[in-house]
Amino acid sequence: MSDQSGAPAGAGTLPPGNPAAADQAAENFVQIVDVVKKFGETVAVKGVNLSVKKGELFALLGSSGCGKSTLLRMLAGLETVTSGKILIDGDDLAQLPPYRRPTNMMFQSYALFPHMTVESNVAFGLKQEKVPKAELRERVHAALELVQMGRFAQRKPHQLSGGQQQRVALARSLVKRPKLLLLDEPMSALDKQIRQRTQIELVNILDQVGVTCIMVTHDQEEAMTMAGRLAVMSEGEIVQIGTPNEVYEYPNSRFSAEFIGSTNLFDGNVVEDEPDHVYIDTPELPVRLYVSHGITGPLGMPVTISVRPERIALTRKPPEGAFNWGKGVVTNIAYMGGYSLYHVKLDSGKMVVANVSSLALLEIETPTWGDEVYVRWSASAGVVLTS
Ligand SMILES: Nc1ncnc2c1ncn2[C@@H]1O[C@H](COP(=O)(O)OP(=O)(O)OP(=O)(O)O)[C@@H](O)[C@H]1O
Ligand SMILES: [Mg+2]
Repeated sequence: MSDQSGAPAGAGTLPPGNPAAADQAAENFVQIVDVVKKFGETVAVKGVNLSVKKGELFALLGSSGCGKSTLLRMLAGLETVTSGKILIDGDDLAQLPPYRRPTNMMFQSYALFPHMTVESNVAFGLKQEKVPKAELRERVHAALELVQMGRFAQRKPHQLSGGQQQRVALARSLVKRPKLLLLDEPMSALDKQIRQRTQIELVNILDQVGVTCIMVTHDQEEAMTMAGRLAVMSEGEIVQIGTPNEVYEYPNSRFSAEFIGSTNLFDGNVVEDEPDHVYIDTPELPVRLYVSHGITGPLGMPVTISVRPERIALTRKPPEGAFNWGKGVVTNIAYMGGYSLYHVKLDSGKMVVANVSSLALLEIETPTWGDEVYVRWSASAGVVLTS
């Protein structure tokens, strides 16, 4: 590779044997830089920047039509990039002819060839690459063992369950040893129970192989269960990137807070802003909101406070504190077994949902429909959202 500019070398051009360089290259195994995709008037992807680490299982999450598949298809080289670029292991994807692209994509509907056996389905790609017979047999065997489908090698797809077909499709992708595995809604054909079991199996298999994987899903539970990190997308843009825990506990926007899990949102204005806390006036509660972290922004600024249902406690007696509580009436109870979801209509008209454990309910003599109750939460329960 030539570099006449004298500028610092990119990940792909760093000399081998340099540990810092190797770390850098592993951090930025996949680099998506200012990527835009237009279909005529429609801008499906609007300037996405994202780095994925080597060996990582990364999920793209977002509602229908937000551009997830389009981004994945560009990574696979199945769709051209309108502007921006994509580097995989330091190589610019645009410079690589399709047969040299180090990716393999499993599609939203992972159609297997119905007339071929499981074994031939998995062998198909290797045959096209003219891999020698002995090696082909060995690789197909290993891939089928990996997904625990070895004993079904001679069956046809229609003789398999949905979960088994899904594992064959995965074997068909992995057998080609891609540097980057792309999965578009890998579980969409499975029903809920097999889906949950398959999620864990799939993570274990990918872990074993160590392949870097980008997965698309619109199912937030699936992304939370499977991914090391995830990106929340909305209308062609990435809204937030983080571990499932980071995005859940510290959403950076109303969109993230509502998309990942459910939450209670309170609107108000900042009346005191210190480095370690803020007070917020809100018409929705009889007291102020208090959050034990500072924010950046002027006094009076409108903000939204997100409080997760499991952070909200119910009481029968009025809370003593001067903040973070409200009085209301129980309007609905969803019994979920170990916990119940209480819908409480506050005096202001605001609806609040509290997730209360069965044990905690016993301690307050399980309130019922129409009962007057108080909701309250601690200073560390709320997150201030400014967008
Ligand atoms: N070939 C195409 N021509 C024109 N518009 C397209 C094309 N492919 C996708 N789009 C549009 O681009 C946007 C993003 O589509 P995309 O398939 O990436 O969504 P998605 O996030 O994968 O949604 P879903 O969850 O429903 O699969 C949509 O508005 C879609 O209609
Ligand atoms: Mg899609």
